[in-house]
Amino acid sequence: MDKGRKLIIAGNWKMNKTVAEALDLVNGLKRELANIKEIDIVVCPPFTALSDVSKAILNTNIRLGAQNMSEHNFGAYTGEIAAGMLKEFSVRYVILGHSERRQYQKETDELIAKKALAAHAASLKPIVCVGETLAQREAGRTELVVGTQLRKSLAALSAGQMEETIIAYEPIWAIGTGKNATADQAQDAHMFIRKQLAAMFNETVARHARIQYGGSVKPSNARELMSQRDVDGALVGGASLEDRSFSDIIKNCVN
Ligand code: PGA
Repeated sequence: MDKGRKLIIAGNWKMNKTVAEALDLVNGLKRELANIKEIDIVVCPPFTALSDVSKAILNTNIRLGAQNMSEHNFGAYTGEIAAGMLKEFSVRYVILGHSERRQYQKETDELIAKKALAAHAASLKPIVCVGETLAQREAGRTELVVGTQLRKSLAALSAGQMEETIIAYEPIWAIGTGKNATADQAQDAHMFIRKQLAAMFNETVARHARIQYGGSVKPSNARELMSQRDVDGALVGGASLEDRSFSDIIKNCVN
């Protein structure tokens, strides 16, 4: 199905991989994925591996992403990393507001909005994560929760910036549980998100913006999920930690 949007599949390695392990993984991916042109491929290693992975993927079809960044450009923020520092390693994408950061680091939509603006100011493309808990879904509050997250975390962006922003819909109950959303559940949520983008920005933005699905994506379910009309890619955690499973996900989604 040609949706007029190129699929983007990103691996979120989370807090995994030493530099040596990261290089093993990315060298495997280079071999497996060398011929793929139809899909944008992104890896998001931990900060400590960005430098080496960046060199390893030079002149390949694999792009680099980071898992987080500061909303500030520089200064007395111990332990933080600024967008400009990521740019030194040719980072192109940055995951913002992952549910693990919302939960463990107490990140708010307001903070994510500032980070998204700072990312664009440095020409990094943010991957802004949204998604509901199981309790929220069961209470019928999915659209309310996701709608609020979108409205607040994208509040600072212009229409032009939004077109270059990627949304990752990641139902929290599907992350790391092995229990993915069904294709219908994903499509319903993605269609809702696209309508929200049209209301918040305009129809063109909604048509162009890419919306990834995340939550237990694996080689066996990727194709069906990606074939949904409003699903434009995947954010993959566990299955991105091994070269075979991540490259199988991507190969299974090539038409
Ligand atoms: P998972 O994680 O693929 O392991 O469910 C997805 C994510 O957290 O981005």
